[in-house]
Amino acid sequence: MSDQASKLREMAAEEQGASKMENARVLAVTSGKGGVGKTTMSVNLALEMAKRGNRVVVFDADFGLANVEVMLGIRPTYNLLDLIHNNMQMSEIITEGPGGIGFISGGSGVSELATLDNASIKLLISELVKLDKMYDIVIIDTGAGITDSVMEFVMMSPEVLLVVTPEPTSITDSYSLLKVLRRRDSFDASAKSISVVANRTETAAEGQEIFEKINTVATKFLGTSLSYLGQVPQDRNASMAVIEQKPIVLAYPQSAAAKGISDLVGKLLNEPVTEKKKNGLARVFIDFFKAKNRIG
Ligand SMILES: Nc1ncnc2c1ncn2[C@@H]1O[C@H](COP(=O)(O)OP(=O)(O)OP(=O)(O)O)[C@@H](O)[C@H]1O
Ligand SMILES: [Mg+2]
Repeated sequence: MSDQASKLREMAAEEQGASKMENARVLAVTSGKGGVGKTTMSVNLALEMAKRGNRVVVFDADFGLANVEVMLGIRPTYNLLDLIHNNMQMSEIITEGPGGIGFISGGSGVSELATLDNASIKLLISELVKLDKMYDIVIIDTGAGITDSVMEFVMMSPEVLLVVTPEPTSITDSYSLLKVLRRRDSFDASAKSISVVANRTETAAEGQEIFEKINTVATKFLGTSLSYLGQVPQDRNASMAVIEQKPIVLAYPQSAAAKGISDLVGKLLNEPVTEKKKNGLARVFIDFFKAKNRIG
């Protein structure tokens, strides 16, 4: 490893303290096709995890589109880049959402992150280390499609939730995403856990079928199998919730979609959480800067 990257890792390790397990668990929510429910999933998984006593923050990496903001009806004043340009503290750029969850806007874009100088990178990492102490779980809403910024975060996150709907284009676009991932040099499929969430299903069997299809292709293209987290049924309350700007697990907790989300959270929180998964958001960014050749 290069000098500077190892220095940053050391810095992160030092500030993170003796136990790595104290860092936040990082989950990136992604999809091949847009509009399949990533933001719905990110926000509601976060709220359900918070209900169960976890400290959760949603990081909106869907740069520029202000997805989470629209869904929650909140408008954060600051974003990640204010840490650098305006010398703000991590605690100052976090907007408090409903249900006690935090929300961080990614700002104008990953392209700007990729051009930061060394001093700015160091500053950003030291603030992210603080975030890793403040929260148990960080959920990254990655935005749609096979864009660079989406891929970078998917590649660097130890855990990835791939959201797929029964639409044929959603399934084929998931294949494309997996193929693009494989082509990237720094992608190591065996080092991460990729789980499929089937959204807007009519039956539980349909969710399982979608998973089998994608898993067959993943095994072929990535040489690794995916896991099936579960399904969230098609539910008109989910669309209502978006229109009302109230998350479904809060507005319609008894709905089928809210119950589906609650089941997913039950599974996620019951999984054994390895040290790798509790690696923190600071590490995700260090790996990002490394891949972009911004640090040595
Ligand atoms: N289980 C569901 N049942 C019915 N409607 C749903 C369900 N999940 C999501 N939706 C609806 O699908 C639409 C898109 O959802 P959402 O914005 O979460 O998708 P997205 O993947 O984040 O989109 P984008 O790619 O644009 O960021 C919303 O109107 C939402 O209400
Ligand atoms: Mg979205």
